[in-house]
Amino acid sequence: MSNSNPYSIHAMELGPMENFVYLIHDRGSDTAAIVDPAWEVGSILDLARDKGIRITDILLTHSHHDHVNGLQQVLDSSDAQIHLLKPEAQFWGAALPGPSLHHGGDSIRLGDTEIGVLHTPGHTPGSACYRVGDDLIAGDTLFVFGCGRCDLAGGDPEQMFTTLKRIRSELPGSTRLHPGHNYAPAHPTSTLEKQVEGNPFMHFDNPADFIEYRMRIHDRIRETPYEAVSRQQARDSLGSPR
Ligand SMILES: [Fe+2]
Repeated sequence: MSNSNPYSIHAMELGPMENFVYLIHDRGSDTAAIVDPAWEVGSILDLARDKGIRITDILLTHSHHDHVNGLQQVLDSSDAQIHLLKPEAQFWGAALPGPSLHHGGDSIRLGDTEIGVLHTPGHTPGSACYRVGDDLIAGDTLFVFGCGRCDLAGGDPEQMFTTLKRIRSELPGSTRLHPGHNYAPAHPTSTLEKQVEGNPFMHFDNPADFIEYRMRIHDRIRETPYEAVSRQQARDSLGSPR
């Protein structure tokens, strides 16, 4: 967070699954977007109230229960506008009140703050990351030294491979990563540069190896908190007994 930005990001780790709920606070207008409202929503609303912030928008990275279970509570206490990707809304099938259905490349304005919408399928068909300045709120697409699982309904490891490749090639290494869960060994945020160095999911050059690692190897050999993995270690693990 730099003071030259028109916004601040507040992170709250809430609930039994180490979820992060974020507030993107546009300081000039004292409005905020809440990202993935879930779990102890009352504490988020209290924080906003204490800081004199009005929640005007709700951004969803995807529709899994642990990211949306506080949605109704936010709607009950504000007139906030819901934003999500159109393919995620179609995948989810929930009846939402007047959502803004986005496509990758859209942007959302919050006072002087512009939030870019990235379509990042793989964990779910319409997963989104939100980019604001040099910050990336990544939902379950990218964790510190991990990535979202691809074996649940709507998951697709080949799409995840392409998504992570695009994130790596299109965003600067200095981008600060704000993941959807706190699976980090120490500091809960990181940079893309550090992920390129130590995130095993950034270490595979072809989809077949990535898919093998994501779907059949990773969960057997790693557990949270995720430590950094070198390129050599990741590639060696492809040869481990199946
Ligand atoms: Fe998820």
